Amino acid sequence: MIMKKCVMVVMLLLGIEIQLIAQISWEQVVPGVWKGVVGTPENYSLLKAAGVAPKLDGFNRLPEMTLPALAFEIGGNVQDGKTALYIPLQPKEQLYGFGLNFQTIHQRGKVLNLHVDHYGGKDNGRTHAPVPFYISSQGYGILVNSARYLTVYAGSGIKKDSPNAEKAKDRNTDKTWTAQPYSDAVSILVSAPGVEIYLFAGPAPMDVIRRYNLLCGGGALPPRWGLGFTQRTPTLYTSEQVENDVEEFERHGYPLDFIGLEPGWQSKAYPCTLEWDSVRYPDPVGFLKRLMDKGIRINLWTNPYISPDSKLYKDMYPVSGSHTVWNGIVPDLANDKAKQLFQDKLIQEHIGIGVGGYKIDEVDGFDRWLWPDVATFPSGISAEQMRQTYGVLAQRTTNELFRKYNKRTYGLVRSSNAGANSFPYVLYNDYYNHSDFITALINSGYCGMLWTPEVRSSRSAEEWLRRFQTVVFSPMAMIDSWNSDTKPWTFPEVAGQVKEYALLRMQMMPYWYTEFARYHFDGIPPFRGMSLEPGFTLDGMITSELKEKSLENNPYLEAVTKEIKDQYMAGEYLLVAPLFTGQIERKVVLPTGNWYDFYTGAYVGNGETITVAPGLDRIPVYVKDGAIIPMMEPRLHAPKPGEKISLEIRHYGKADGTYRLYDDDGETFDYEKGMYSWREIRVSHDRNGKLKGYISKAEKGKPNSIGKITWRFMTDKF
Ligand code: GAL
Repeated sequence: MIMKKCVMVVMLLLGIEIQLIAQISWEQVVPGVWKGVVGTPENYSLLKAAGVAPKLDGFNRLPEMTLPALAFEIGGNVQDGKTALYIPLQPKEQLYGFGLNFQTIHQRGKVLNLHVDHYGGKDNGRTHAPVPFYISSQGYGILVNSARYLTVYAGSGIKKDSPNAEKAKDRNTDKTWTAQPYSDAVSILVSAPGVEIYLFAGPAPMDVIRRYNLLCGGGALPPRWGLGFTQRTPTLYTSEQVENDVEEFERHGYPLDFIGLEPGWQSKAYPCTLEWDSVRYPDPVGFLKRLMDKGIRINLWTNPYISPDSKLYKDMYPVSGSHTVWNGIVPDLANDKAKQLFQDKLIQEHIGIGVGGYKIDEVDGFDRWLWPDVATFPSGISAEQMRQTYGVLAQRTTNELFRKYNKRTYGLVRSSNAGANSFPYVLYNDYYNHSDFITALINSGYCGMLWTPEVRSSRSAEEWLRRFQTVVFSPMAMIDSWNSDTKPWTFPEVAGQVKEYALLRMQMMPYWYTEFARYHFDGIPPFRGMSLEPGFTLDGMITSELKEKSLENNPYLEAVTKEIKDQYMAGEYLLVAPLFTGQIERKVVLPTGNWYDFYTGAYVGNGETITVAPGLDRIPVYVKDGAIIPMMEPRLHAPKPGEKISLEIRHYGKADGTYRLYDDDGETFDYEKGMYSWREIRVSHDRNGKLKGYISKAEKGKPNSIGKITWRFMTDKF
């Protein structure tokens, strides 16, 4: 037993001071999620900043759970004006999450200072989304609802009365001595005299993340066009150059759904005016309309810091923070007046004339240019809390506007935090390490965030294609050419392969869209790590079936016990295993069950580690047995509301399969009023053993984007 059940007495400082780490009393807030309170929590918190209601209906599709026994072992107390939390750990327990890490998936043993910042090359807690949420391999999760910088000892630190402590070793003589001996708990320090803590039940880790996403409003549901291809233009581009680019895309036959304007569309940037530059963009209304007629939306880069030359400056001044960023004022987005002024400006200048979304830059760091922690804000929110939530507030502020116009958006943001799960924004940064970008993609799935491994420039055609292949299997397929002026066809040697993948992205839109709908309605992350695949249970680290086999003959066990940083699941059925520049072959861990090649339908393995050398043309993608992948024709633009697509329903493997295909108008929030449908797809064997497909009829009175349907049984020929 790690701790006594009721009250744990900790003797400190030679027994002179006795402290109580009190047991927490828990209140169920939604099915399978309990809230505990320690001390007096502050009014402002992460969930308060996001201001989102739980997506209640989603919980009905999760197993009913009672309060985990662990709840009685979690403790907390207030000491020195700060709150300490204590959550015990089991010997083989692994921890996932704690925000957008770039180099590690396993977090046990780390000390993390969760602090919004531009990622600095080390997984130390300073990152774009330092979400204080983690999932245990034991099938529970913890969220600390504090907008403070938090210190997390994720299984480091040992109490002197711990019954689980190892014996002290002699470093002089004992080679097994280690600087970080076994620790049996997570401790978290919150610099406030109280905090709310949430406990999420499973039973499986996937159920934990689902409950977390649903508590935070469900995952983001982008418009269909958001899942198409996007190109960001070079700095100081003019409207004429943008329109030329659009023609070039069309002429070269590359898909394009939205264009991002980088600094230069505004009259001043860093700080920003939020007003169009009259020379580079003399006619914004006409410009936006002409592009919209071609099915292209515009996304605007900005940072929220207001230039003295903006017409907004004077009114915003009194409701901005005490300190500036690049000598521009910082709107206090937690203050109603500031938020209103900001929103009015965005409507007047952008959204009201048809702008489709934003890239909200510079809301993360660095310390040396954002407001210091001594800054003050009219809302009374501290500089620290503002730093932890500014990206969330900016997402909320803009998201509300698109809701008002009943138009969905899909944008980019450089910082976020717990609670923003349903906001349609994708994280990105300037770090640009390709393999770490994939690890970040995996980690985004553990913290209710989205991440794009964007493509910018490349040193070679090989790198260009390798990066491009991965961005196609990510939440946002984007080239950000702000400082490189690259286009999909920039490397002629691989322009054909790039086009093939760009079109594949479009072909897969029915699958991507459905997987995002599952994220929204059921909280299932569309892109996620291997450990969320079935295999974990609450009462043991792995299922008994897996336990029977040794690590040697069951690499799936490896998948759940070893840190896998370079392969991930894309939706229900696909396993993506990218190659990076210079790599000719790689190992892929295939979980138990039969797996098939995505491109050919051929069998590739079952519960084993395979070595693959696919050549430059291919990013390895594997498909589960019985998978159904709905695809459409290769198009240059996402289908418009009401437009019909030709559906190609692919089936892989030998097993029967089912899939629920999501449909709605693809652009508005009418799905919130029931204007959506799930069509059931089934593939099964007939009496003669032949595969046949079935799809349920379109629901009357609901949007229906499905035209002609063809079936493709990918593994039939083998
Ligand atoms: C950076 C941002 C880039 C690009 C650039 C433009 O801060 O991360 O993606 O937008 O600003 O100046």
